[in-house]
Amino acid sequence: MKISFKSSANADIQAMIVDDGASLPDAAKALDEASGGLLTEALAAERFTGKLGQQAIVVMPKSVEARRVVLIGGGKPADRKPATYERIGAELVKSQAMSGFKSLALSVDAPEHAASAAAGAKLAAYRFDTYFTKLKDDQKPNLTDFTVITEEASAAEDAFVPLDAETAGTCLARDLMNEPPNVLYPESFAARAKALEAEGLEVEILGEEKMKALGMGSLLGVGQGSIRESQLAIMKWNGGGSEDPVCLVGKGVCFDTGGISLKPGAGMEDMKGDMGGAAAVTGAMLALARRKAKANVIGLIGLVENMPDGNAIRPGDILTSASGQTIEVQNTDAEGRLVLADVLWYAQEHFKPRAIVDLATLTGAIVISLGHEHAGLFSNNDELAGAIEGAVEASGEKVWRLPLGEAYDGLLKSKFADMRNIGGRAAGSITAAQFLQRFVNKDVAWAHLDIAGVAWREGNKPASDPSWPSGFGPRLLSRMIAEKYEG
Ligand code: BES
Ligand code: MN
Ligand code: ZN
Repeated sequence: MKISFKSSANADIQAMIVDDGASLPDAAKALDEASGGLLTEALAAERFTGKLGQQAIVVMPKSVEARRVVLIGGGKPADRKPATYERIGAELVKSQAMSGFKSLALSVDAPEHAASAAAGAKLAAYRFDTYFTKLKDDQKPNLTDFTVITEEASAAEDAFVPLDAETAGTCLARDLMNEPPNVLYPESFAARAKALEAEGLEVEILGEEKMKALGMGSLLGVGQGSIRESQLAIMKWNGGGSEDPVCLVGKGVCFDTGGISLKPGAGMEDMKGDMGGAAAVTGAMLALARRKAKANVIGLIGLVENMPDGNAIRPGDILTSASGQTIEVQNTDAEGRLVLADVLWYAQEHFKPRAIVDLATLTGAIVISLGHEHAGLFSNNDELAGAIEGAVEASGEKVWRLPLGEAYDGLLKSKFADMRNIGGRAAGSITAAQFLQRFVNKDVAWAHLDIAGVAWREGNKPASDPSWPSGFGPRLLSRMIAEKYEG
């Protein structure tokens, strides 16, 4: 979708926002006159009140350049937020992408609103058609140009720069998650991270030999049943001079069968998305690079495949992590925490970070707790947790904080090793977070986002989330870094 900002534009489709109460906006008056009052008539005849998201489509006569006008409800002007304009942009694309027309122009009052509408349009236009070989022309969208008409077009362009960067991050995360697991496995994922050097990131890839030398027995244990070599990809954005970095850590289980503790077959294909945390971190790094963030940020993604195999880890095996702590594996399906344990430790020991934020599709229990609305947030630091919560409104990506505590931590006690990798049936997302916390020193600000419920969603999805994966993470992380760590 080509996005542009102009002070006036012709287009096949002219879209106008109508306030709740449904009087014709100024921007529509000329078209109303030219069409002999068709818009006024539509407002009177249809059940259109200007309620947020409502649409009335009015076909224009030959005498008018536009082929149709879409009136879209904007709700009460006082209630409109950036997210409202994003929704309007997204819903217009959703309803018009397959209409057969090529260009749409939406009239918007202020430049920031124009930028938000454009971001919504871009998110809604996302498609992943790579593996369809038989799509007919009428099964493909042909709306290619989305113009936002606003008096201050160059201010809108400026306001769009960071949003454009962030939506690119979201779309990269979606692409990575959509790829099938025979195409996207640890090495090929690492290669996609490496390719981000073209965007100005510095990327280093560690293979199994190097990770063995670092003592990463926990991460390597998960990958040992796979014919694919495990990888650790480290992506650096150096935009902040000499300050200590923020580290973003992602769970990159490219496919999670459960291992010897095999998952049930139904729905297992979704477990190609078990690298959603790594996808979010990779997308965030792209967003930071594209908007030239004034911060030092390092993204670290642990890439493995969890397979059942003669060489796979067994329940009862004891792994030694890079931190030196030993772990009794009681369930090979609690593998994400085993991967993160070594990556968190590496981030802390090598980069002296001012904060670490990890993202992981870690537990089914978080889906039971929070459904598909909020990611679970856990943190040892109120300020960092507050910064993440503070970025929710601007990013549209929601989180809900859950507790940590010693009593939960006690559930990880093992008869044979320093800890076991499961805590029992109760509070599964919290005991998983407690496990991670054991690999971060107390004085390091750390937050964990369990995104198992939001990385892909069921139920009512907004128009800005049109694909299987939502691409949750890059926008939230980029906003959080902008607000807390840049000036
Ligand atoms: N990748 C899964 C968690 C998951 C479940 C993500 C559903 C997305 C949707 C994770 O590795 C896992 O299997 N967790 C187990 C942990 C249990 C064995 C303690 C779970 O949640 O059942
Ligand atoms: Mn698992
Ligand atoms: Zn998993």
